[in-house]
Amino acid sequence: GSAPPELQEKTLVLVKPDAVQRRLVGTVIQRFERRGFKLVAMKLLQADRGLLDKHYQQLQQKPFYPALLAYMTSGPLVAMVWEGYNVVRSTRAMVGDTDSAMAAAGTIRGDLSMHVSRNVVHASDSVETAQREISFWFQRDELVAWESGDRDYTY
Ligand code: TYD
Repeated sequence: GSAPPELQEKTLVLVKPDAVQRRLVGTVIQRFERRGFKLVAMKLLQADRGLLDKHYQQLQQKPFYPALLAYMTSGPLVAMVWEGYNVVRSTRAMVGDTDSAMAAAGTIRGDLSMHVSRNVVHASDSVETAQREISFWFQRDELVAWESGDRDYTY
């Protein structure tokens, strides 16, 4: 049978172009796997402006937006969907503060990023945002439902 609904919460994680260039894709994936979350979609792609304008709808008027666009289109990125219990909140905690200087040691940004403009990863900030963001980056049939048979472990 399929996993109970509370295990099916999903979030979007982007491994940003700086991290792909620095060969950090594996290290980011490993953190989510070790936590017990389930990978249900993943692809490497070059994002275009149209997609990023949708993804960063709320930021388009910010002074840093042109630089953010240039950075996010500077090379391929890896888009992933992770699934599991409270995965949205857990992922935000794992990613750490937007400002790298404030990101706690042990978080992805706290361990791997020096500056907000090269902060390694994106993670959705709420369940609703996650649903919207996943629909921007993935077709419905790119999400794979699979049984890992480790329900006791994932709790
Ligand atoms: P935001 O949604 O505020 O943060 P988060 O990624 O932690 O959810 O901002 C989105 C991205 O915009 C952020 O990851 C990096 C970039 N950014 C800047 O380049 N400069 C800034 O001053 C801010 C606030 C964000």
